[in-house]
Amino acid sequence: MGKMGAEIIRQRGVIMRAKIIDGKKMADGLLEKAKQEIALLARPPCLAIVMAGDDPASQVYVKKKLDACKKVGILSKDIHLQSSASEKEIIGAVNRLNKDDGVDAILVQVPLPGTVDEDRILSEVSPGKDVDGFHPLNFGKLALNNSELIPCTPRGIIHMLKESGVQLSGMHAVVIGRSRIVGKPLALLLLNENCTVTICHSRTPGVGAFTRQADIVCVAVGKPKTLTADMIRQGAVVIDAGTNRQGEKLAGDVDFAAVKEKASLITPVPGGVGPMTVAMLIKNTIACYRLRGGK
Ligand code: GUN
Repeated sequence: MGKMGAEIIRQRGVIMRAKIIDGKKMADGLLEKAKQEIALLARPPCLAIVMAGDDPASQVYVKKKLDACKKVGILSKDIHLQSSASEKEIIGAVNRLNKDDGVDAILVQVPLPGTVDEDRILSEVSPGKDVDGFHPLNFGKLALNNSELIPCTPRGIIHMLKESGVQLSGMHAVVIGRSRIVGKPLALLLLNENCTVTICHSRTPGVGAFTRQADIVCVAVGKPKTLTADMIRQGAVVIDAGTNRQGEKLAGDVDFAAVKEKASLITPVPGGVGPMTVAMLIKNTIACYRLRGGK
């Protein structure tokens, strides 16, 4: 990329400041469209959220998700289990929701307490109600490029890139992070968009040698200042999927102040990837509703 950014820089003959991608504005537009779409459905879709424990970050995310449902006219069920909940109890809750005809979509908020097997629980969600696309069947379909339910954060990132005019085909994208929620599915999506994809992670020595070759750098590791200005090339596109609480403030994984001077496009934290995740959750809930035959 950033072919576009490179052009902007050349044309003006001066180093341009990065354009900041307004994820909040983009997400608000999508939520408004979703609200209109939902108003035309035969009945309101219903999303159930299962959370176990009281991880403060998860509580904030779940509240944002429930608020968005309310805003667009989606019904929600908030199932909050204790941190001491056993694997059997959580699976029991998921199975009841699988069988509940009034529930279209199920989200199991992760991380779950360390005492339970997250993979096992996520594989209990009915694939058609799997709003996050974390079930092995949907994750496999994602790898094969034919999934209807794509994990919300990576789906939001691809949407932001396309909406910002970034041509993906043929670009070299470097993804830092390989989590179930962001890194791994994002790498697959970028590959499906014909990017050349490099995945770096905690065991990669010399991450900068990879990112300096990238047109697009996406960071999702949960560590502030993972990406610094010396690690990117002039005009690169930078996507920050990190959310790190620093006292009252929220910081991403990118050294935003310095990197924005060198990038052609960059997402801020807050107001970048986060709101897009919520917007994509709403889109995926409608997709689940339609997958169940809802009109
Ligand atoms: N925890 C942080 N982000 C997410 C997400 O997108 N989905 C779920 N289920 N849990 C999360």
